[in-house]
Amino acid sequence: MTEELDERVLDGNVLDGNAVGDLIRNELRECIATLEDEGVTPGLATVLMSEDPASETYVSMKQRACEDLGIESFHRELSPDAPAEELFDVVDSMNENPDVHGILVQMPVPDHVDKRRVLRSIDPAKDVDGFHPTNVGRLVAGDARFKPCTPHGVQKLLEAADIDTEGKEAVVVGRSDIVGKPMANLLIQKAPGGNATTTVCHSRTADLGEKTREADIVIAAAGYPELVDGEMIREGAVVIDVGVNRVDADNEKGYKLVGDVDFESASEKASVITPVPGGVGPMTITMLLFNTVKAASLQEDVPVELP
Ligand code: GUN
Repeated sequence: MTEELDERVLDGNVLDGNAVGDLIRNELRECIATLEDEGVTPGLATVLMSEDPASETYVSMKQRACEDLGIESFHRELSPDAPAEELFDVVDSMNENPDVHGILVQMPVPDHVDKRRVLRSIDPAKDVDGFHPTNVGRLVAGDARFKPCTPHGVQKLLEAADIDTEGKEAVVVGRSDIVGKPMANLLIQKAPGGNATTTVCHSRTADLGEKTREADIVIAAAGYPELVDGEMIREGAVVIDVGVNRVDADNEKGYKLVGDVDFESASEKASVITPVPGGVGPMTITMLLFNTVKAASLQEDVPVELP
């Protein structure tokens, strides 16, 4: 990492996910140009079966990011009341469509849809979320094909800020299938961005602060607003905030977004900290684009130099 790059990604101790995301997206543009030279346009299908405003926002941000980069976006929306089979039919048609290289079904799906069957129904070669059991197994075995987007984005953020994970004490707060578990798996891999001594904390952890105060790197992904505050952080620790929580606010929208970290108190102690919004969020989308480009490259047998 050059000093020039450091200046662009770090403002004081605040690590800018938009800046890191921009750098990676610029390199992805070159990969897409290589694919285009061979007549391949990467395609991503997004499927939404929800009327949750946050899910709708996330999916439209993903579509817009695709279009901005020259990835073709295919989108299907289903009523949350539709029969589960309609969703499986949509996934099947995307699996069969050679113009679609990546498929993402936005989670959560309604209760009457078997979430695990959804994850299994996506062709593992098109599973750009990395949630199919085959891809989870490959990640755990140290042979990842598609790293899940949010934990992969966190790895890229740490790398961009020149934070070496090797030999560090890392504490992951949260054990979700989407973030906590794959994050811990990446951190323990014998590979760059891994080699950390990793503890996973969760809702049944007896004394969360006792664990986080020991950490060189805290990754907060529990889904509780401002759960981790300055008292729970060691002086000089690196704090990565994965949380996106809507809390009531006295403004036009009636809400504001806050992370799982109390930014004000934690930033006084942290050597590096990510904001919400503008930290991990933009990286999740960037790594989805990364996985879509990788999927197209593998399926079409056109090598590219991924960032
Ligand atoms: N819901 C929240 N995060 C994600 C994600 O990374 N992928 C999908 N498919 N759904 C989500």
